Amino acid sequence: MNTTVIGGGSWGLALSKVLSDNHHNVLVYDINEKTVDNINRLHLCVQLDAYIPKDIKATTNIETAMNHADVVLFVVPTKVLRSALEEALPFIKGAKTFINAAKGIEPESFKRISEIIAEMVPESNIKHIVSLSGPSHAEEVIKGMTTALTAASEDEAAAQFVQSMFHNQQYFRVYSSTDLKGVELGGALKNIFALAAGIIRGQGLGDNALAAFMSRSLVEMHKIYAHLGADPETLYGLSGIGDLIVTCTSEHSRNFQAGYKIGSGKNLEETLKSMTMVVEGIRTTQAAYQLSKVADIDTPIIDAIYDVVFNKIEPKVVLSHLLSRDSKSEDKPK
Ligand SMILES: NC(=O)c1ccc[n+]([C@@H]2O[C@H](COP(=O)([O-])OP(=O)(O)OC[C@H]3O[C@@H](n4cnc5c(N)ncnc54)[C@H](O)[C@@H]3O)[C@@H](O)[C@H]2O)c1
Repeated sequence: MNTTVIGGGSWGLALSKVLSDNHHNVLVYDINEKTVDNINRLHLCVQLDAYIPKDIKATTNIETAMNHADVVLFVVPTKVLRSALEEALPFIKGAKTFINAAKGIEPESFKRISEIIAEMVPESNIKHIVSLSGPSHAEEVIKGMTTALTAASEDEAAAQFVQSMFHNQQYFRVYSSTDLKGVELGGALKNIFALAAGIIRGQGLGDNALAAFMSRSLVEMHKIYAHLGADPETLYGLSGIGDLIVTCTSEHSRNFQAGYKIGSGKNLEETLKSMTMVVEGIRTTQAAYQLSKVADIDTPIIDAIYDVVFNKIEPKVVLSHLLSRDSKSEDKPK
């Protein structure tokens, strides 16, 4: 299978390694010449300081990249997805399977990535759209450490096709799902709560506070799933609670790291400047906050993160506001 990977950053190269281990023919496209040179000459993923298999090749030429592709895997930060698609569109010939492995929701439109692909790519060029999501740090996958993900598509056979592409009996287990909406939402929303978890740790709060925040984060995710028509059961899978756990508790999470710095008193601009990889949670906070206001969904944690990040309110003020709200029942309204 010839797969073109759009985005040769940490996650793009970790997934390229899985495909290469599964004997797929991988060509990576990246706009950054240095990144492409590092892949072709040094076989190196700079962000992770890790070597990748020598058969993974890279190019800055989008026409070459699209000519190679039976399957196109998008792994670019969501804010550049539309421009990456625009570059690729003139060179897509025939119908392709599009896989998305990025995690985000677009502010204003509230669109998930599969919806943006479906909106921008002509129907005749789309065979299937599949999302690959779940608890996964590139740092571990690139070393061949045990990981399990979910491949989701509204078309069950398409989800199973991507499941078989990535499934590796040594270290990479893939489940399939037909709840594309739920799987994409889980991957996107958990980044907001990873920022919150980092802020909590940065403020010096303990395990009790973290566990409380993670549980209440699930409640907010559940409300958004219900509003958008995703299956709430998906929340209890790899792409929901699985990804929430890994991202709220692991030092590898960029969103957690960014939250930690903000919680420890660094300002947002300084923090983002110091991060070498994308922090999707910032943009997703904006999107989820807007959605919760438009749809009148009560999301105190999302509101709190929005206040810290966009209204520049001190984390300790926001935390004390969260704690001083009226007490309420944990039971769901009947
Ligand atoms: N890193 C992880 O562990 C991980 C795990 C799961 C999901 N993700 C998600 O994957 C996405 C990418 O994350 P990452 O960690 O690989 O980011 P990254 O910052 O390491 O890499 C992004 C890459 O995209 C390239 N790029 C930017 N604009 C481009 C364009 N128009 N065309 C082609 N390439 C372009 C950049 O040059 C860079 O190499 C994010 O949505 C992230 O949330 C990351």
